[in-house]
Amino acid sequence: MSAALEQLCIETDACRACTLWQGRTNLVFGVGNPQARVLVVGEAPGAEEDAQGEPFVGRSGKLLTEMLEAAGLSREDVYIANILKCRPPDNRNPLPEEIQACTPWLREQTRIINPEFIVTVGNFATQFILKTDLGVTKLRGRIHVAGRFKVYPVFHPAYALRNRNTVLPQLEADFSALGKLLGA
Ligand code: URA
Repeated sequence: MSAALEQLCIETDACRACTLWQGRTNLVFGVGNPQARVLVVGEAPGAEEDAQGEPFVGRSGKLLTEMLEAAGLSREDVYIANILKCRPPDNRNPLPEEIQACTPWLREQTRIINPEFIVTVGNFATQFILKTDLGVTKLRGRIHVAGRFKVYPVFHPAYALRNRNTVLPQLEADFSALGKLLGA
């Protein structure tokens, strides 16, 4: 981790801006290349992520890692973070006030990493980064612009795992198209 991210991680760990810290095992700050060209933003830690203190290490994470490989990327190439840094109880959806409380940390991570691309994974990340009410289904698989960032929404791997025949092929196609965009 870079010194700037390490300092930010210490500050994030001490955050009490919402109540989720009370139920967590570990803060899930983020992982990867501090100078990544691609920042991947998911929703929130699940049980496995909470246990290990690392984003996307459970079933969804395994699929995300495979998808990154389909785009010619490894986990070490990119930086992976979430909208929420603490696990919501029973994996419920993030609440609007939790998103509001937690996203200054993501904003600061983004400022430090300064990626070219932000891959938003699922509805929560996509709607927060693009400031839209549209769902990921309408936005996925193409570049949108937010400030100086190229934003590329994709389905959440958990959704693809629940819909292997329909959604998974679209997720694979979107990551393979991302690989082409990165090579261009
Ligand atoms: N789902 C997410 O959105 N993020 C994780 O870190 C794990 C599962």
